Amino acid sequence: MCGIVGYIGNKKAVPVLINGLLSLEYRGYDSAGIAVLNQSNNEYDLKVVKDKGRVKNLEANPELDTLLGTTGIAHTRWATHGMPSKENSHPHLDNSKKFAVVHNGIIENYVELRKILQDNGYTLYSETDTEVIPNLIHMNYNGNILEAVSKTMKLLKGSYAIEVISPLFPDKIIVAKKDSPLVVGIGKNENYVASDIPAVLAHTNNFYFLDEQEIAVVEKDSIKFYDINLKEVKKDIKNIEWDAESSEKNGFEDYMLKEIYEQPQAIRETIGSRLSLDEKVNLELGNIDFTKFDKIYIVACGTAMHAGIAAKYSLEKFCKIPTEVDMASEFRYRNPLVNEHTLCIFISQSGETADTIAALRLAKEAGATTISVVNVIGSSITRLSDYTIYTHAGPEIAVASTKAYTCQVTLLNILAIYIAEALGYNSEELNKFKVDLLELPDKVKDVLETMEQVKDFAEKVYTQKDLYFIGRGLDYAVSMEGSLKLKEISYIHSEAYAAGELKHGPIALIEKGTTVIGVATSPITTEKTLSNLEESITRGANVLVVTNQNIKNGKIDLMIHIPGTNPYLSPVLSVIPLQLFAYYIAKNKKLDVDKPRNLAKSVTVE
Ligand code: AGP
Repeated sequence: MCGIVGYIGNKKAVPVLINGLLSLEYRGYDSAGIAVLNQSNNEYDLKVVKDKGRVKNLEANPELDTLLGTTGIAHTRWATHGMPSKENSHPHLDNSKKFAVVHNGIIENYVELRKILQDNGYTLYSETDTEVIPNLIHMNYNGNILEAVSKTMKLLKGSYAIEVISPLFPDKIIVAKKDSPLVVGIGKNENYVASDIPAVLAHTNNFYFLDEQEIAVVEKDSIKFYDINLKEVKKDIKNIEWDAESSEKNGFEDYMLKEIYEQPQAIRETIGSRLSLDEKVNLELGNIDFTKFDKIYIVACGTAMHAGIAAKYSLEKFCKIPTEVDMASEFRYRNPLVNEHTLCIFISQSGETADTIAALRLAKEAGATTISVVNVIGSSITRLSDYTIYTHAGPEIAVASTKAYTCQVTLLNILAIYIAEALGYNSEELNKFKVDLLELPDKVKDVLETMEQVKDFAEKVYTQKDLYFIGRGLDYAVSMEGSLKLKEISYIHSEAYAAGELKHGPIALIEKGTTVIGVATSPITTEKTLSNLEESITRGANVLVVTNQNIKNGKIDLMIHIPGTNPYLSPVLSVIPLQLFAYYIAKNKKLDVDKPRNLAKSVTVE
């Protein structure tokens, strides 16, 4: 995800900004840039140096030596709109070159705002959503920057944390935020701004936290806060005593836990402006003629493939096209029946998985239309596919995938609606499905509240050698993902079974003390799954159940209740206790959850 740093004081700004950006490098980025107000006599001049690549490259850029001022803003960009390039890097300037802006987040209505600006004679030079912001500030500026920022905020839909500097108010950095973090660090005769505490922790432990839709005016010896209507707001200083390591993880012990907790926001970004109640789904898919497809293949590996299994159900239900899910490593060698009537959907967090790339090449050669669901902008799979839709989950650093999975399932369901609408299937059920999708981020937040219960259960069973996950239909799809998570980071042998299959063999493995985890969210199959769990309980198993149904069974050791949702979306919620379960088992075993043995984040070999 992008990083923001700002400095105003008596020191040269560049070294403070560069150090701040370096301390945010762990978050992943593709471009970096700085804007500084240079002073000569009483004249101020805005200077920008930016490019794609590492902060080290920026530091080595000789142009940086010309940035001498003591007020500046800086940014590391993780591309969301437009490929990594100099033009798309931040800071962005308005057409008059008077306002420099850095931005984290996604402006969902940027297409509409670009149009408004163009109609008013503005030219936009980048492909970004961000460039609308400095230009809107310019358009709204009548000598009062606070009014201009407030008016601009009222036009923006989506998420943002922004910093603005200008020679028109050289003693100030104006910052504002909505749904994207921003803090102001307090110094002596100097102040700091950052998207993340680690960026300025070397200078201060005292912070103000901006709340939603607040603006701050940061000067070297004063900081004032306002709401979006410019009413002044009083804030308390928070003292943060983090060490360098935990600060990189925003206070979480591990990246995996941080990423599990990022899921409500990540899913919100995935939904973004693609989905609204009164309009058709909006995806960047050109003019595909979906009537020509008689078959859909979903192809991916590992967790991404599990997301595909979870999405097959809604694709078949709403689009009425038979859908098969394949492991990329199998698909590529099994002569699949692919032709110009086949739609192939590839899913990958990294966009670099060798097996998925090979399967994609094969599908293209056979004449299929290819759509990829990818997290990393500009990665190999996005360059090879006919069409790409991005998950916008933000960088995932832990090897065990968590937020990428829930964002993939969310986006694939949005794709299912898109295809259904393109095929002319509009129904009440589809509208209701949209409502349920929009409610997901808040429900994910609620599921995270189950953390303590899961933690206690994990403490009881972490010494086990074998563990089983069971469920039916979509609950089976989630069981597979829960089992994979556990294997990856806890090194405990585990299997996922379709609950109805248990009695056809695997039940022979159940004995006194074996742990069986049941996922039961479907009103149609919950009773059946419960019977299968009973069979395990009878043989002495410890049983944990994740459910949104009203289950009355005193023999279950722990029941994790999650909110109800549309059955097709239940994997997004029911997987979270399983992610937490794997995490706490591994923690109890004192393992490195972020870098499990033998595994790599991006599997670029066959
Ligand atoms: C997930 O926890 C795993 N690390 C792994 O299964 C992963 O999902 C798989 O290798 C696919 O990676 P991709 O999404 O980057 O293509």
